[in-house]
Amino acid sequence: MKIFKTKTEIRNYTRLRKLNGEICGFVPTMGYLHQGHLSLMDISITRSDFTVVSIFVNPMQFSPTEDLETYPVDIETDLNLLREKGVAAVFIPSVSEIYGESFQTQVSVTRISLPLCGASRGVSHFTGVSTVVLKLFNIINPDIAVFGKKDFQQLAVIKRMVKDLDLEVEIISGETVREKNGLAMSSRNSYLNANERKQAPVIQEALKEGKFFRLNTSTDSVSVEKHIINQIRSNAPDSRIDYIKCLDADTLEDTSPETDNILLAAAVFLGKTRLIDNIVFSVKSVEKS
Ligand code: PAJ
Repeated sequence: MKIFKTKTEIRNYTRLRKLNGEICGFVPTMGYLHQGHLSLMDISITRSDFTVVSIFVNPMQFSPTEDLETYPVDIETDLNLLREKGVAAVFIPSVSEIYGESFQTQVSVTRISLPLCGASRGVSHFTGVSTVVLKLFNIINPDIAVFGKKDFQQLAVIKRMVKDLDLEVEIISGETVREKNGLAMSSRNSYLNANERKQAPVIQEALKEGKFFRLNTSTDSVSVEKHIINQIRSNAPDSRIDYIKCLDADTLEDTSPETDNILLAAAVFLGKTRLIDNIVFSVKSVEKS
């Protein structure tokens, strides 16, 4: 497995392999890899001739009060996992390699970045994500890139950017990988203490309850949100809800009576750790079955 630290090296590597007619798959990450990340590499490896993974904790997407300084890092373990997976090349740039001196360009995908994590973390979060992802696309020039549905809004923002800016990369999404107890895997789960870890699966259980409630009891989004909030408050006493939202999954706007694809999205603090999760379902396909 090749390891590159500079833009020039990785650019030359992918350029050469693409000139030989090979399809390049790409999985961007911030490292501290888990099975969720690795499932995206499986998708990329199946759908391309060679897979490039980036590991870069991107300062531009963290607000000053967030966990940039303490974000977990374990490059050696990550590299071993990637070698075992059969990834062709890893790009591990420094912050100065990516942003250099006097960097001042921002890519913002406006409307779809506003609700959910855009509202609670600030839209600058998604500006940071879209800017770094566009830079990585320009450096690596992949044919396909794989993102997880766990970060549903991030996936929507990237898809919108690719469409709006006519980028020649196909965005593929991977299902959320979970622990046996239902907790969505996340690098940030490593922050949880034993008590918080016990309560964390309540988020997914409450979203499932919310789906059941939406399909069987009420189509009113506020009632659905309240139902989910109550479930979390009663079953995870140490939780603090950041947001619970029931939105149109296609637009991330409020639902209307015609909405078919529903997104139930949650951001919940357990102690200092902010966890996100979601469920997406089609009302019509449930009605038909
Ligand atoms: P990171 O949080 O490391 O996630 C990298 C990719 O793994 C994202 O596409 C994310 O959605 C996916 N992922 C995380 N947990 C997952 C799970 N449990 N199941 C399936 N996929 C999962 O997301 C980022 O990094 C950054 O914002 C990045 C896109 C790299 C830009 O800096």
